Amino acid sequence: MDKLLIQGGQPLHGEIRISGAKNSALPILASTLLADGKVSVGNLPHLHDVTTMIELLGHMGVELMIDERMSVEVDSTTINNLTAPYELVKTMRASILVLGPMVAHFGEAHVSLPGGCAIGTRPVNLHLQGLEQMGAEIQVDSGYIHAYAPQRLKGAHIFLDTVTVTGTENLMMAAALADGVTILENAAREPEVVDLADCLNAMGADVRGQGTATIEIHGVERLNPCHYDVLPDRVETGTYLTAAAATKGHVLLKDTREDILEAVLIKLREAGAEVNTGADWIELNMHGQRPRAVNLRTAPYPAFPTDMQAQFVAMNAVADGTGSVTETVFENRFMHVQELIRMGADIGLEGNTAIVRGVDRLTAAPVMATDLRASASLVIAGLVAEGETMVDRIYHIDRGYECIEEKLQLLGATIRRMPS
Ligand code: EPZ
Repeated sequence: MDKLLIQGGQPLHGEIRISGAKNSALPILASTLLADGKVSVGNLPHLHDVTTMIELLGHMGVELMIDERMSVEVDSTTINNLTAPYELVKTMRASILVLGPMVAHFGEAHVSLPGGCAIGTRPVNLHLQGLEQMGAEIQVDSGYIHAYAPQRLKGAHIFLDTVTVTGTENLMMAAALADGVTILENAAREPEVVDLADCLNAMGADVRGQGTATIEIHGVERLNPCHYDVLPDRVETGTYLTAAAATKGHVLLKDTREDILEAVLIKLREAGAEVNTGADWIELNMHGQRPRAVNLRTAPYPAFPTDMQAQFVAMNAVADGTGSVTETVFENRFMHVQELIRMGADIGLEGNTAIVRGVDRLTAAPVMATDLRASASLVIAGLVAEGETMVDRIYHIDRGYECIEEKLQLLGATIRRMPS
């Protein structure tokens, strides 16, 4: 397995471009199954998860082309296999996103149940209950979800008792071709949900209220070809800003957006960062100062994102003071804590709260990535630790961060990949 070797101690300085959002690219690529004809998706990040989704669509017989703008053109009219197999789904839970479009457009779907993952059990019961409310027949056996809609799905009034991002996305996609109106109550408000809704409307769907907790979808007969560029990745943006804060640096991030991670910018300013923003750029400057510890509590958007929790624990680990970090979305998303403690961090876990007492310095150590965002926090710790940190199992990182070592090198970090 590839490893990253990071020589700590240099503040990050410079400017980089932010890539398209992984968590927008995945549902939007799945949504191409809804259209009659070619849909091209642009600003896709070159990530392992995106490759897996493209591989999954290819497995189903869908024709894919990469055009001269590096957009992926998907034509679902050639689909000949309505199965998302275990071999692919086990490597990427977001494969569940093909379920709604397949049932809605082709009346049938066989999707391997995504297992749990490092951060939690992550059930998909709300996806299935919503589809049943829309008239799909769902059977789950030998690890597969079998869904049938012999008649066209029907609009339904669905209350989601937990805010679920991909649950909202799956049901929104299914509702786009249903007969009648679907209302999703307690829907997810993430910018990636809004991006998917805007893409569906570009195909001719009639989705309203995206970005609020109540989304109304007026089903249409068919969806048409279109081109759509996915929005910038707010978690990649937040990760590099937090790395700059932890290393007392000064960075400029381009091709991003200021309005999709406000809770994170507020916390970075609380930590003492000077943050300036424009429509498509964000600048952070620590003026050489050590960050101040911050308290935070994760929750669904627009609150502080769970996908930024591990990165802030790493920043708090070297901050001035003590910060408490409470995780309310997933039940087991503190795997990075033990690894950070091995680097000299002073962190106590009390239930779903990490109490982080800032230390003057971390020391390099061999550490192991356990999940995507935990691995980002270990990279941040390596950037501030004294000595050379080796981060193992970085395939987790490659799932969500495009060219991470190149981008960090552009920001002045001493980091290199060591092929296994
Ligand atoms: C999406 O996962 C993201 N993935 C995750 O990003 C992100 O952490 C998460 O939303 C929360 O923001 C993609 O968008 C591809 P959920 P998702 O359904 O949709 C419970 C990353 O790092 N739940 O919003 O799977 C669930 O157990 C990844 O990029 C049910 O109980 O998350 C969790 O506690 C990690 N039943 C909570 O809801 C369901 O049917 C939120 O999960 C569905 C979810």
